[in-house]
Amino acid sequence: MRFQLAPSILSCNLASLADEVSQMIMAGVEWIHFDVMDGQFVPPITFGSQMVEALRPLGSTRFEAHLMTQTPEAHFEAFMLAGCERIIFHTETTNHAHRLCGRLKEMGVQCGAAINPGTPVESLIPILHLLDVALVMTVNPGWGGQPFLPECLAKVRRLRELRPDLEIEVDGGIDPVTICQAWDAGANVFVTGSYLVRGGNIPGAIKELSQACASKF
Ligand code: DX5
Ligand code: ZN
Repeated sequence: MRFQLAPSILSCNLASLADEVSQMIMAGVEWIHFDVMDGQFVPPITFGSQMVEALRPLGSTRFEAHLMTQTPEAHFEAFMLAGCERIIFHTETTNHAHRLCGRLKEMGVQCGAAINPGTPVESLIPILHLLDVALVMTVNPGWGGQPFLPECLAKVRRLRELRPDLEIEVDGGIDPVTICQAWDAGANVFVTGSYLVRGGNIPGAIKELSQACASKF
């Protein structure tokens, strides 16, 4: 599977958000990742679809919404209309994952399902054939800057065995070391937030992450 970076805007400076997202786009990343938090599924509240809509004109890089919200299906249409090509819901938020996948397909957007570190991989298996991407959280969702949880990689390995053609995304604690651990386990899409802004050089950090496991390709 192709190696792809999906920078999150969560750790950006909101006062210069457009400039920082433009730097990500110019650096050639495959996705921009929007962490939508509702104060219910996770404690913080971040932003809604207006944020996606405001940034959409900056470039043609694909946008994905990571919905850390209860009743995620209530927000599908707004994020699709705002310009997201992919929408990811958490399996913990629904008893009807098949129906939610069907709804995303009907809307013509890519369908993603995410699991928390404490959620067994089995919760994705019944819907695996419906997914464009499986997102394995490698931190507990809610905040950027948390340490990577290596015990989540066993789930990545299992998913890669079950669906060799699936996009498998990891989210949380990604840096030049952990990105290679996740790649080795079978992940191919890497969300990255705080690492990109830590050193004050977004293009430099993107280049570093892009090249971190290049010797393994
Ligand atoms: C956490 C979010 C992540 C977060 C990753 O709830 O889903 O996308 O922004 O940030 P880092 O890379 O700092 O762990
Ligand atoms: Zn995320």
